[in-house]
Amino acid sequence: MLILGLESSCDETACAVVEDGRRVRSSVVAGQAEIHAEYGGVVPELASRAHAERITGVVTRALAEARCELSDIGAVAVGHRPGLIGALLVGVSAAKALSWSLGVPLVGVDHVRAHLWAGMLDTDLQKEDAFPALGLVISGGHSSLFACAGPTSLTRLGGTIDDAVGEAYDKAAAILGLGHPGGPLIDTLAQEPDANDRAADLPVSRLSRESLDFSFSGLKTALLYEVRGVPAPGGVFARTSDELTHERRRDLAASFQRAASRAITLKVERALEAMHEKPRAILVGGGVSANSRIRRELEELAHKHGVRLVLPEMRFCVDNAAMIAGLAHERLTLGERDDLTLRASPAMERA
Ligand code: KG4
Ligand code: ZN
Repeated sequence: MLILGLESSCDETACAVVEDGRRVRSSVVAGQAEIHAEYGGVVPELASRAHAERITGVVTRALAEARCELSDIGAVAVGHRPGLIGALLVGVSAAKALSWSLGVPLVGVDHVRAHLWAGMLDTDLQKEDAFPALGLVISGGHSSLFACAGPTSLTRLGGTIDDAVGEAYDKAAAILGLGHPGGPLIDTLAQEPDANDRAADLPVSRLSRESLDFSFSGLKTALLYEVRGVPAPGGVFARTSDELTHERRRDLAASFQRAASRAITLKVERALEAMHEKPRAILVGGGVSANSRIRRELEELAHKHGVRLVLPEMRFCVDNAAMIAGLAHERLTLGERDDLTLRASPAMERA
């Protein structure tokens, strides 16, 4: 079965055609980085408008790249939560129109759960070899751990109590005077051959020993003080980020990356120890799962614990519609589908 998926929860307008939940026939992503760059973050109203302008174009391209017609589509899937409400509404409205006009099922998909399906795309990995799983979603909007009995059956184990890790990366990049989104820029700098990841001793938040929650705001503030000095009364900083040499910027990026990666692997390890039933795999998803160091350290951790690590291909780490169409197939197989009353929602499904 071919499922057409739509994704518009944040600043990526995406459409994909996926066969039987696994084989990606096409995955088209129209990013909006250039629109939001001057604001240093996503401006919701501009995002909604850009989605409305681009959505029909990405559908046309996805069908052409998949070499199929609308009449070949067996169901329409859409990421309908969580996200920016105005942005989500564009995808949900388009999906309703398509499913109604084609007379095929409409399937709403939770964006965060879909990130955990991304690693299954274009692989032959059997579900029985992946589930039950420990799920880790690390993105611009989320940092959460889940016990996954199956692809659509999740129990939340913990999550960030302040910034998401991708958000911390983006803010760290702004503090270092880099562009937006900052995650890939910090990752590139941190990988330079002479980068010293111990140049600054940045804090790794543990909260309590048992806690499976994350916290990244202390790390971000510590980096700010490294770059600009501790502010004087009245919040006046002694330095600006323009005074950083390339070497210092690179070393601070590497130090930040070391601390961020450690904070993630620490909690993943704690979750592995805390889970009653040993998971068959650790499923990872979200934009930050593209990070070179986090990928490497998770590999080492999985190896140490004798558990399979399922990382998405790079193109399926950041927001895309293939993961939406893929997980929709799982819902359909379970006999679940939605109708035209499907609502967009800014909040995540309760897990
Ligand atoms: O999953 P995603 O596209 O959107 C959300 O659902 O939030 O994730 C975007 C986030 C951004 O914060 C971006 O900086 C981060 O993923 N990101 C990275 C890397 N590539 C993207 N963070 C660290 N290292 C990377 N290589
Ligand atoms: Zn996402």
